[in-house]
Amino acid sequence: MLEKKALTKVEINDVLARRWSIRAFDPNKEVEKEKIIAICEAARWSPSSAGDEPWNFILFDRFKDPESFAKALDCLSDYNQIWVKYAPLLILTIARDKWRNSEDLNRWSQHDTGAAAMSIYIQAVSMGLMAHPMGGFSVEKVIDEFEIPDGFTPMAMIAIGYQGDLEILDDYNKKRETAPRKRRDLSDNFYYGKWGKAIEF
Ligand SMILES: Cc1cc2nc3c(=O)[nH]c(=O)nc-3n(C[C@H](O)[C@H](O)[C@H](O)COP(=O)(O)O)c2cc1C
Repeated sequence: MLEKKALTKVEINDVLARRWSIRAFDPNKEVEKEKIIAICEAARWSPSSAGDEPWNFILFDRFKDPESFAKALDCLSDYNQIWVKYAPLLILTIARDKWRNSEDLNRWSQHDTGAAAMSIYIQAVSMGLMAHPMGGFSVEKVIDEFEIPDGFTPMAMIAIGYQGDLEILDDYNKKRETAPRKRRDLSDNFYYGKWGKAIEF
């Protein structure tokens, strides 16, 4: 199995280090019901501003509900469909634009939905699964297809499943799958005390 552990200056949490966005999913292994529930629970117990839980999730299970999965797959950009078609589970994340009890915009709702999505990735990895978030899908199409009401913003699709054989991928995606993971230097994005002052270790 291809491991692409994060290269860090000091040791970090093992699940965080092992998470990466795979494309080669095992097409024959479905995600067990208990694990799907655990993924939902992990998101449910994420932090949110004022505890408003400004998120919704729609799950598409290729094994249990192939029709809905096919519709969700069709909303994805072609460059994603080519490998997502083998994933057993897709999750659409949606942010609630306004506070539940007010007409005011909740400016943290997308932040909180993203945090809940991270809980999904981490819970998945901790159970032997992998997760790959995607922004490459038609927002208009998912709103239309899944009857998402006004006031809700589709954020990301997440492909989840077990890692499979690299050979399932086309040549282009095989190359991407085996490419080393990269990150900017710590001093690029992490400041100390004021904007632009790089942290020195
Ligand atoms: C909001 C969001 C949108 C993304 N969209 C796509 C996408 O459409 N297709 C894709 O293959 N990867 C997509 N990715 C995955 C990123 O390319 C990936 O997380 C990044 O390159 C870092 O790699 P890693 O997750 O393996 O550490 C997306 C990730 C996020 C968080």
